[in-house]
Amino acid sequence: APNAPNAHGDGTPPSATVPPLPDLPAPHLRDLPFTGGTIDALLREERVFRPLPQVVAGAVVNPQDVTRARARAAADPDGYWEEAAEELEWFRRWDAVHDGSNAPFHRWFTGARCNIVHNALDRHIETGTKNRLALIWEGESGDTRSFTYYQLYREVNRLANALRGLGVGKGDRVIIYMPPLPETVFAMLAAAKIGAVHSTVFGGFSARSLRDRMEDARPAVIVTVDGFYRNGRVIPLKPIADEAVATLPPDLAAGVRHMVVVHRAHMETPMTEGRDIWYHDAVRGQHHEALTEIMDSTDPLFLLYTSGTTGKPKGHVHAHGGYMVGVHRTMRWVFDVKPTDIFWCTAEPGWITGHSYVVYGPLMAGTTTVLYEGHPLYPEPGRVWSMVERLGVTILYTAPTLVRMLMRHGAQHVARHDLTTLRLLATVGEPISPEAWLWFHRHVGRGRCPVLDTWWQTETGMIMLSPLPVSLLKPGSVTRPLPGIEADVVDEHGKPVGPGHGGLLVLQRPWPAMSCGVYNDDESYRRLYWERFPGWYCTGDVARRDEDGYFWIQGRADDVLLIAGHRIGTAEMEAALASHPSVAECAVIGVPDALRGEVAKAFVVLVDDHPPLGTMVNADDLATELVEHVRRELGPVAVIREVTFREGLPRNRSGKIMRRVLRSEELGRDTGDLSTLEDGYV
Ligand code: WT7
Repeated sequence: APNAPNAHGDGTPPSATVPPLPDLPAPHLRDLPFTGGTIDALLREERVFRPLPQVVAGAVVNPQDVTRARARAAADPDGYWEEAAEELEWFRRWDAVHDGSNAPFHRWFTGARCNIVHNALDRHIETGTKNRLALIWEGESGDTRSFTYYQLYREVNRLANALRGLGVGKGDRVIIYMPPLPETVFAMLAAAKIGAVHSTVFGGFSARSLRDRMEDARPAVIVTVDGFYRNGRVIPLKPIADEAVATLPPDLAAGVRHMVVVHRAHMETPMTEGRDIWYHDAVRGQHHEALTEIMDSTDPLFLLYTSGTTGKPKGHVHAHGGYMVGVHRTMRWVFDVKPTDIFWCTAEPGWITGHSYVVYGPLMAGTTTVLYEGHPLYPEPGRVWSMVERLGVTILYTAPTLVRMLMRHGAQHVARHDLTTLRLLATVGEPISPEAWLWFHRHVGRGRCPVLDTWWQTETGMIMLSPLPVSLLKPGSVTRPLPGIEADVVDEHGKPVGPGHGGLLVLQRPWPAMSCGVYNDDESYRRLYWERFPGWYCTGDVARRDEDGYFWIQGRADDVLLIAGHRIGTAEMEAALASHPSVAECAVIGVPDALRGEVAKAFVVLVDDHPPLGTMVNADDLATELVEHVRRELGPVAVIREVTFREGLPRNRSGKIMRRVLRSEELGRDTGDLSTLEDGYV
């Protein structure tokens, strides 16, 4: 069966033909019977799911609130976000809600003083939240550690003091190269607390990826771990961090004053005298109170690198004030989160989803967040369901790729567990096919839980297009922009394409958690996102709207792949391939994959003096070697399914490799209507 729509145009679920019904007033909704339960019934429903009365009755935000908020935000956007900001604590109030005078470098809550950690931790210590569970962590081997807000606060303060003791101050960068551990969360919060800028690097990334990010971020300190558990194996991490530092230019390497190493896997770990320090030694004897740095609203909170259309990843800067308002508002509205929830977002803290909805969002909301160290199928396919059951998870936020994986293992693993605590399900990262949506809804949510498909990006910082629990749902659609967000689907001239047509997804109004820019590269930020349609943010995604105004995201318009929901540029993969001595030139395209959504296929031209394949060299061996090479260079995220050797690559008149031609050949169809977008966009 076809799975998630791929990045190149096809596979979008047909728009359901239903009367326009979004945002109905509550009494009407209450009158509507829920007719879900079997797939047949769902099909008779023409795949429109009305919220259950009990969901509407219990929701923090009811349908009238949504209608009011949309109207309010349209008439007075600043007033709308100002109200959202008033739900948080500030050290000094803003002079202006939004300042677009230096657009596209928008500034939010200018003149205000704040610190997101004050809202995520400090303020809770003065209330009943103090002794509530903040964080439940589960290791892959089943060990658990839990922290109340007060305990988390003290851990963070100890580390904040330790970092200050190591000379880290306001504005310094701290790289966090960690698997999902409590210390990962401590490190993010401790850095932010003292005004440093954290930059997490996913633990699955290679030394080269880490080095590239360090070269740009120039960290004063790196926080890492000896090793961690994944799929029953111990994966060493500190040696990779060492290798990355060793390959930096000497002045930058010298700038890395310290490496703080968490002792997790009890491995023999070489420590560099004077530079490296064990985490437990660093925090030993540190006081459990620490001053929270008073930041300007626009001061950077973190840098997060993401793949784009060029070889080098871009470091997006997010600032304290705007980010905290956007994340807090979406946390409460989209997830309808209450203090009694057990919220499990399966993303790693190192990705943007982890920043916003594992760490900052849940903690600002005063709820309990769950963090899992290991592989979701370890030691058996029911691990996720067993965790939901044992911990009493109420809200599960995950990725379509994981849903597909679990779906493939069968509903019997789900059926073995009591999942009655669940009340909301949500996904992010790539399109979810109606098939996967329906499976999730039926087998995991037992027809009781809304499934919310949330669209956003590293750049947006917060969820942008998404249903709320009280919305009408169509499987596979992200429904509509949230209140305060304006989006449309347009052609290459910026004209709305109208229902049923594919086009570029644009955001037409700034929003609080938006990227403040690309670190060290104002020009790229301007060019990549704002140049094409002046005043609008161009997302790089292709979407279509249906007759009801619902949005269906189809995938990337540019040369960025979404492999298992992880963004990776074809340019990065091509650069990694080209660094192999046998490769003269190459091109990488995305091809659909039932499990990962998309994987890469590489076309390779060998160097002139390369022995002919089939004589001395076995083509399969060389292909395997190239796949391994890229994996070593970029990390396990970079999955190449197939390597094809060719005599040459198709090029246009200016010499640019035409990946579109390769794609059409590969997929046996014309990528026609997207071609102009694509050629223009890249
Ligand atoms: C890209 C952003 C912040 C979320 C995690 C990924 C794709 C994201 C959806 C969705 C279809 C989606 C887009 C986007 N994407 N959510 N619900 N439906 N596609 O963050 O690594 O910055 O990637 O992920 O293509 O541009 P990211």
